[in-house]
Amino acid sequence: MAIAELTGKHLVLGMTGGVACYKIAELTRLLGKAGATVQVVMTEAATQFITPVTMQALSGRPVYTSQWDARIDNNMAHIDLSREADAIVIAPASTDFLAKLAHGMADDLLSTLCVARDCPLLVVPAMNRQMWLNPATQRNVAQLRADDIQVLGPDSGAQACGETGDGRMLEASATYEAIASFFSAKVLTGQRVLITAGPTFEPLDPVRGLTNRSSGKMGFALARAAQQAGAEVHLIAGPVALATPWGVNREDVQTAQQMYEAVMRVVAQQHVFIGVAAVADWRADHVSAHKLKKAPGQALPTFTFIENPDILATVAQLPQAPYCVGFAAESGDLASNGEQKRLRKKVPLLIGNLGPQTFGQDDNEIVLFEASGQTALPRADKHELARTLIAEIARRLVH
Ligand code: CTP
Repeated sequence: MAIAELTGKHLVLGMTGGVACYKIAELTRLLGKAGATVQVVMTEAATQFITPVTMQALSGRPVYTSQWDARIDNNMAHIDLSREADAIVIAPASTDFLAKLAHGMADDLLSTLCVARDCPLLVVPAMNRQMWLNPATQRNVAQLRADDIQVLGPDSGAQACGETGDGRMLEASATYEAIASFFSAKVLTGQRVLITAGPTFEPLDPVRGLTNRSSGKMGFALARAAQQAGAEVHLIAGPVALATPWGVNREDVQTAQQMYEAVMRVVAQQHVFIGVAAVADWRADHVSAHKLKKAPGQALPTFTFIENPDILATVAQLPQAPYCVGFAAESGDLASNGEQKRLRKKVPLLIGNLGPQTFGQDDNEIVLFEASGQTALPRADKHELARTLIAEIARRLVH
């Protein structure tokens, strides 16, 4: 999760009755960590699952449960609580609450707040599979969508009742991602973006191989930022230990050759290609079918290498090439190495940094190389940089 990406956002977090209330404790923490202020409002049923005291401690603000709460001096809690809100998020949203929303009912504080709102409303349904599939629920959800209410999820899988199916609430982290995505500027709507990320692994025998220290963090951060900017994102990843960003289509590969083939299969449909992967330049020309064993007196193994395809340069040369962006981690003289690499790969934009000391780090300092010159961006968290880069790429697409 990016640091402080929701700074200044004020959210009313409305909780209704359901076991998934436990997920809201974590969601509140994530939203707070991202800089949002969170005003929790609970229905009477929600207080049966988690206490207002817990939610008050996590949100750092008093929790409201009743429309007759005397703490708001004009007795207008239903108006006052949402007055400064950038959005109301109902999580978990019970079957009953979705029905109330669909019909504009206002018989408690939270439902009244929703009817009186002057801001977007997001709902995160949580219920048993049969309740979700019930035609009345489906009718209500369709009505909510038609009323421009964002429906996040539900997820599919094991449920508290012991059944399996659609209806369970998104995990806290996925709910957080969907909320962050809602607030992102949709500068890449309608664009298909292909991204390579992470290292590649070039085998020498069934257990050994050559790889590098790329963590994939920058490529995954870009995939997340592009998705949040409204793009349809296809992420081709080498071996990394990272979770797939929410809403991103991910394909895993091992070798440079597999990455090349995976890219070539989908590149024709893409508007933008961002090569972030640290692709191995060489692979062994012969991969032993058996584990190489050592024996006393035996000569040390020797390997000969052949060159891997240059994925970025190949894509940039396609007759209908997407807008191509390269990455380069240089160990010295970034100013001239970066520009030379951009010209060599024939890409309009190359992002350079002084690596490999940035591999695996959470922040990065980068320079944009393009025909018009070089622009250095201040050191920042990789997620913040990714958002800036996506905005920069989007700006170049329209020009
Ligand atoms: N790249 C690629 N395929 C390769 C090698 C590199 O697509 N076989 C892409 C990377 O994803 C990155 C850019 O090219 O966007 C630059 O990668 P880098 O490893 O710095 O380039 P090389 O051509 O390998 O240059 P060097 O000799 O400095 O390693």
